[in-house]
Amino acid sequence: MKITVINGTMCHGSTWHCKDLLLEKISQLEETQVREFYLPKDMSDFCVGCFSCFLKGEDSCPHADQIRPIVAALEEADLVILTSSVYALDVTGSLKALLDHLCFMWISHRPNPKMFNTVGISFATTAGAGLAHTTKTMQNSLKFWGVKKRFVSKQAVAAMKWNDISEKKQHQIEREMVQLAKKATAAVANIEHSSAPLFRKIMFKVMRTMMKKNDWNPTDRNHWEANGWLSGTKPF
Ligand SMILES: Cc1cc2nc3c(=O)[nH]c(=O)nc-3n(C[C@H](O)[C@H](O)[C@H](O)COP(=O)(O)O)c2cc1C
Repeated sequence: MKITVINGTMCHGSTWHCKDLLLEKISQLEETQVREFYLPKDMSDFCVGCFSCFLKGEDSCPHADQIRPIVAALEEADLVILTSSVYALDVTGSLKALLDHLCFMWISHRPNPKMFNTVGISFATTAGAGLAHTTKTMQNSLKFWGVKKRFVSKQAVAAMKWNDISEKKQHQIEREMVQLAKKATAAVANIEHSSAPLFRKIMFKVMRTMMKKNDWNPTDRNHWEANGWLSGTKPF
């Protein structure tokens, strides 16, 4: 199984340990090939709002050199994992900066068919609050990239460091990771046969109608046309 991990922080903290436990549990079920990115080391810039990615293509982004390898790894993956500690009740600024850069591949712009049979998991860890909002931010990107099957891991750890987490909680996390590993592995194995999410179908229909009328962004429109989606080819 090919796995791409986007770590929303460089810390090998609680979030990292939860995610690492999952990787360990999956590797006990089948052979894995893991590619990990750490933010902000692997993508250190904020979106400058130039609209170049939307209007001229993603290669015209001023930060394309950092974005390109991340997109290539997402395209290759069977399983995509996004992780973030909760900062100010949301994802880390580093992860948000990357997610902003990837809006060009949302269904509302130029969805990437290579994401349509992918499984996604979001990992969020907090001292106490903000899990729902943080998870929503990550799940929104997975959903709008067209990821087919999505899972969530949310942990309130009441700690600043992994070693400060109570033994009881660490055992609970370990048990959850065993279950999540089983579910994610089964989802990857069955992905071709599982049906497309309703949200994706509806969103795609809405966007197809809009793209047919689209005279404001030829780059997006050409993408839909080149994939045959404007003339009725179904993407999933
Ligand atoms: C800048 C910053 C902001 C934080 N904001 C919150 C917050 O809004 N709510 C909360 O409960 N914990 C907050 N925390 C605590 C972390 O979410 C918590 O300790 C988490 O387990 C850290 O995960 P990590 O070890 O993977 O980095 C914050 C920590 C930092 C460093």
